[in-house]
Amino acid sequence: MVGAMLPFMISTLILYPLFWLPVVHSESTTWNTNSEHQTVGENLGSRLCIEESDTQTMPRHPSTDWGLQMVQGRDEMYKAILRDDAVAKLYHLGKISDADGYLERTFLSHASIQASSVIRGWMEDAGLTTWVDQMGNVHGRTEGMNASAEALLIGSHLDTVIDAGIYDGSLGIICAISAMKVLKMSGMLEKLRRPVEIIAFSDEEGVRFQMTFLGSAAISGVLPVTSLHVSDKSGLTLADVLKENHFEATEESLLHLKYDPMSVWRYIEVHIEQGPVLESLGVALGVVEGIAGQTRIRVTVIGSQGHAGTVPMSMRRDPMAASAELIVMLEDLCKHPENKINHDRESKGFIKEAFAGSVVCTVGQISSWPSASNVIPGQVTFSVDVRASEDRAREAIILELENEMHQICNRRSVSCFLELKHNAEAIRCDKELSLQLKNAAQIAVKSISGDIGDNIPILMSGAGHDAMAIAHLTKVGMLFVRCRGGISHSSAEHVMEDDVWAASLAVLEFLQTQMNE
Ligand code: GLV
Ligand code: MN
Ligand code: MN
Repeated sequence: MVGAMLPFMISTLILYPLFWLPVVHSESTTWNTNSEHQTVGENLGSRLCIEESDTQTMPRHPSTDWGLQMVQGRDEMYKAILRDDAVAKLYHLGKISDADGYLERTFLSHASIQASSVIRGWMEDAGLTTWVDQMGNVHGRTEGMNASAEALLIGSHLDTVIDAGIYDGSLGIICAISAMKVLKMSGMLEKLRRPVEIIAFSDEEGVRFQMTFLGSAAISGVLPVTSLHVSDKSGLTLADVLKENHFEATEESLLHLKYDPMSVWRYIEVHIEQGPVLESLGVALGVVEGIAGQTRIRVTVIGSQGHAGTVPMSMRRDPMAASAELIVMLEDLCKHPENKINHDRESKGFIKEAFAGSVVCTVGQISSWPSASNVIPGQVTFSVDVRASEDRAREAIILELENEMHQICNRRSVSCFLELKHNAEAIRCDKELSLQLKNAAQIAVKSISGDIGDNIPILMSGAGHDAMAIAHLTKVGMLFVRCRGGISHSSAEHVMEDDVWAASLAVLEFLQTQMNE
């Protein structure tokens, strides 16, 4: 009997001590499977005044030619900065890639360094003082009228997934820069009531080290020093990569990155929606009320490597077939959690409510060894990504996944290892800040499309954002921008030019309303 020949073994979860956010399982837990147009409206125009001489001396980025057209009139000038120039910047950044033929920019890669320097140039062009910190985040700051006041932070990320679209991350950085540039040109930058700092975070996607939010987690002080020892695919540790780029990469330098919460007022982020809701509602902008929690796990299934032609089906311990069963089990679990989760009577009501359409599970990466058509694999590794707006729903799914995995691996006499790679609790955006952003979005949308009425939707985010990490430092608020077909993490990602304009205008309006004396 196969089962008798090779005793079943479920091994322990190998836990990197990466849990910088509150975690489902504690660091020491052993995880075992056993157990388009109208001009900008008067509401903004009335507050901004660009002198005629400004239009004559409008700065151009030295190394690019998306430069602003010499346009007639103030409103056209704002539109050129907030829409045309912003769109040109998005396309420019979208071409800075480590790969030929598609967009890929991972943490501190060659293309990322290049992108940082371009963004830094744009920040300076917008009148900001710039620097790059020890985690590769690019900062652009203006002190306004009161340098010692708590600063407003505005950010998003400059890294991308593999075969990415040009808007994910970049849109938030560029909209903020565009708004600041209008303030500079209208002479309002110095009149800001408090400092404003734009941060282009070096890593949100977590592609290189399989850890997300390296940049924003460092700023909010929730990136553990142990993360310096995590390796990328080539075996380089985070510390190696930082040192290669002349960053300090010490425990001390990491601790120094943390912002004092007393020095920060609020954080806002503009981001492509990455889903279909705004498009279906026909609205350019939405306000984010919260971000779903997420858990990422690596599953390794070990069986018995062998000859594809000689080992009888009944005598195989095939990790590929076992993985297929595990993946389908996960899909079923997340589609119909109410059928699978055993919960006591007391929690039943809550869990059912929490599950209501809120759990999503994905296996997006799989590899086998030795990966040959005439070999029964010896090992299969795949990723699991579980998200839910309710943390208890996500926790229940993970527990059930462990439980069912144990049964399947036991029955198939393969060894299954679970490795927790990332775990972040859901966050809620600040209500007052969200209201301010909603008002700003409403004015922007109305200015561009002429729409009237209270039509800015409130959405939950299934995608992770830097705001999740920054929520450990200060109150956060987010605006979503409509995208075509809800598509993201794909080269087909698209945002209409007028929607880029609406987003930049909303940031400008927010700055005007909340930040001016
Ligand atoms: C980031 O884009 C994520 O939500 O995976
Ligand atoms: Mn992304
Ligand atoms: Mn993103």
